[in-house]
Amino acid sequence: MRRWAWLERDGAAFLNNLEMLSRRGGQGVMAVLKANAYGHGALWAARLAAGAGAAAIAVATADEALSLRQAGIALPILVLGSVPKEAVPDLVRAKVALSVHQSGQVSDLAQAVSPGETLGVHLMVDTGMHRLGVAPDEAATVAAALHAEPGLRLEGLYTHLATADSDEGAANAQLRRFSLAVAKVVPRPPLVHALNSAGILRLRCEVANLVRPGIALYGLSPFGEGTPPEGLRPVLRLFARAVQVHRLAAGDGVGYGFSYVADRPVQVAVLPLGYADGYPRQVGGKAEVLWRGKRHPIVGRVSMDMLAVALPADHPVEVGDLFTLIGQDGNEQIFADQLAALAGTIGYDLVCGLGQRLEFSD
Ligand SMILES: Cc1ncc(COP(=O)(O)O)c(C=O)c1O
Repeated sequence: MRRWAWLERDGAAFLNNLEMLSRRGGQGVMAVLKANAYGHGALWAARLAAGAGAAAIAVATADEALSLRQAGIALPILVLGSVPKEAVPDLVRAKVALSVHQSGQVSDLAQAVSPGETLGVHLMVDTGMHRLGVAPDEAATVAAALHAEPGLRLEGLYTHLATADSDEGAANAQLRRFSLAVAKVVPRPPLVHALNSAGILRLRCEVANLVRPGIALYGLSPFGEGTPPEGLRPVLRLFARAVQVHRLAAGDGVGYGFSYVADRPVQVAVLPLGYADGYPRQVGGKAEVLWRGKRHPIVGRVSMDMLAVALPADHPVEVGDLFTLIGQDGNEQIFADQLAALAGTIGYDLVCGLGQRLEFSD
């Protein structure tokens, strides 16, 4: 290990979550591994998902899909995001499916596919979120146009819910619009999917045969709660070792701006990670970390590459001591969602950022 700050990921927890979501959804799983599997490592997650019998993988960009294929992932892959037609030949070669989200794409895509080749597509229906998707009453016509193109194979129909975490009535209204739209598509493609993590945990979509979880696979809450929903286990842990320990007298300050000044003798352990590692700058003076099974406050500002933890003057803390920033130590546990809330954001945002400079120890 070249750095005393690192991430760990719990494969058994990931598999537990995948299994739980598949059981709860009662359908096959299209595992959402975009943004490097929400910071957890897309290839790592894809191998686990493939081994556990996931039906497919979803990513956001053509590059995310291609790098999984190049690394040998054979599962069906769908790009959820909008892909420029210039990327189509690479996706055809890699047998990656893409999303059709507006009618104008049909002829562009058909032209981008060479004779004798086939591009798999899923038609995205906008049932109310007004991000990507064709209108529900347009779906049957666009599906017919896709069916009519020999180079295109309509493999799926899907929609995405705006409020599965916050407004069940509005989410169910979206699902009703989706069911009506699906019923009009003839012939119906083999894959139909709608529910994200919050939807799987709270709603049903009878017309679908796949669920599409992201955040819950990683054991975070889609509801903005501090702890994971029942039955799910956090996958990611964040650790660091103290690289320096100071004994401070009352009146001594720590870090930029001296935003913390000791009011009694304390020790300060310096940990070698900061906001450039995705550890939120906003939590300086607010968050805690674990040392020997107890909580201790982060003091002063979180800087780009370092942060400081205050410990009582009589504790035997030393350079090299292990600190848990996300994870469990003894009876204490810090969840990513709790840290995110302190930073004024959501767990999704926090974990996506953590994987960018920090490395996994495995
Ligand atoms: C189209 C689509 N489906 C599924 C998901 C997974 O959502 P979640 O992480 O809330 O389960 C996302 C993520 O935002 C998405 O954009």
